[in-house]
Amino acid sequence: MGERIYIFDTTLRDGEQVPGCQLNTIEKIEVARQLEKLGVDIIEAGFPISSPGDFNSVVEISKAVENPVICALTRAVHKDIEVAADALKFAKRKRIHTGIGVSEYHIKHKLLSTHEKIMNRAIESVKYARTFVDDVEFYAEDAGRADNEFLARVIEAVIKAGATVVNIPDTTGYCLPGQYGEKIAYLVNNVPNIDKAIISTHCHNDLGMATANTLSGVINGARQVEVTVNGIGERAGNTSLEEVVMAIKCHQDLDFVTGIDSQQIMKSSKLVSTLMRMPVQPNKAIVGRNAFAHSSGIHQDGVLKNRLNYEIIDPAEVGVKESSIVLTARSGRAALKHRLQILGYAFEARELDELYEKFLTLADMKKDVSDEDLEALAGSEKVKGKRPIELISLQVVCGKSTIPTATVQISFKGDTFTETASGNGPIDASFSAVKNLVKRRVRLEEFLIQAITRGSDDLGKVHVQVEHKGSIYYGFSAHTDIITASVEAFLDALGKIA
Ligand code: KIV
Ligand code: ZN
Repeated sequence: MGERIYIFDTTLRDGEQVPGCQLNTIEKIEVARQLEKLGVDIIEAGFPISSPGDFNSVVEISKAVENPVICALTRAVHKDIEVAADALKFAKRKRIHTGIGVSEYHIKHKLLSTHEKIMNRAIESVKYARTFVDDVEFYAEDAGRADNEFLARVIEAVIKAGATVVNIPDTTGYCLPGQYGEKIAYLVNNVPNIDKAIISTHCHNDLGMATANTLSGVINGARQVEVTVNGIGERAGNTSLEEVVMAIKCHQDLDFVTGIDSQQIMKSSKLVSTLMRMPVQPNKAIVGRNAFAHSSGIHQDGVLKNRLNYEIIDPAEVGVKESSIVLTARSGRAALKHRLQILGYAFEARELDELYEKFLTLADMKKDVSDEDLEALAGSEKVKGKRPIELISLQVVCGKSTIPTATVQISFKGDTFTETASGNGPIDASFSAVKNLVKRRVRLEEFLIQAITRGSDDLGKVHVQVEHKGSIYYGFSAHTDIITASVEAFLDALGKIA
């Protein structure tokens, strides 16, 4: 069965500290509910003293969530602890997370203090927090760079004062996996009362070591891991929840388990990425869009024969429908046919031969050929049949000293509609006309124009992402006229909403 590792999610506290990623209370509740579905054990909901908004979020999350422990962060300051206890008043299960810096840097240059005073403040804050709640976690900030002997003395003292969990943060992401693991092992071997508390890891990713350090901590005795969805967090981020969970799941030889429902991983990742407006890098482990994409002919052939040849995780396990075969100049007819079938196109052998030639020409120019490229290659007639909203005509007036104006005519379910609008450029004017036509509250989240080759007579490809009622819809089109391609891509996304 394996020993249980507790998942402490700090997406809504450490993750939310990223500039530009702030969420309002309603959005935080949505994330917290998804974290509950994901199966995290503890949700760090905020730092209540930091702002009325954070206080309120901790209150509302406490009301909205049933199962996970709700945790609130404080400094080793009495007022912080009182405010955190107040914010947690509705939580079914609650924890106060208090702490102070313990490295030489923090003691001397941040807190302008002494070892003795820091020790006293650590003990005092834990004791005070215990007067409000039974579950108190102590963080030894910058433990990664702290002297192990002093760290061990502080940890022993705070456990004696009533800490139930002791957090050993590598605040600056400085440690290497061996060093971090040794630090945890040192505490296991040198803190006499260590069996009275759970050791927690809290790693930052400044050297790209957060996941490795966390696992090294677990292997050496930590039983709680502090993580964020998509690894978001200050600077280079925190340890990524999905990476640690799936590493533990894949490596059954480690003999650990978590309570995470891994099939909720992708959904959680998308929700956090969308609400925090923080795109996930394509090659991000587990949740990047290329994490299950195979591009070389040899790998494609291997995966089509047996997925296990090149995949250590079944994409379904993390909530991804299937692995994808990325078409490149090294792909054969079979891979092309397979992909076209998935996209809903069936071609006669002769047609497929012709298409394959075009595909090879395109694949030679591009690194990979996407589904959208294939749709463009497959021909506008076939694409047309699939689009619920069709662009019938587009007339644009623009240029220097002219107010850009667009007249758009579309057909939807057999009827034709026309609208004219102006904007700050031809695409903006066209999109305004389309928005007036469809009368839906939509927000353009992403707009990307790419040229397939580099010539001025080139096909322009346009990708858009449109938000409607909290969901994201993707649209694509390709055309030699980029304004037409843009409007068609926008209509493609809107058609998916329709
Ligand atoms: O990185 C860190 O040290 C922290 C603590 C406040 C837990 O986020
Ligand atoms: Zn942190």
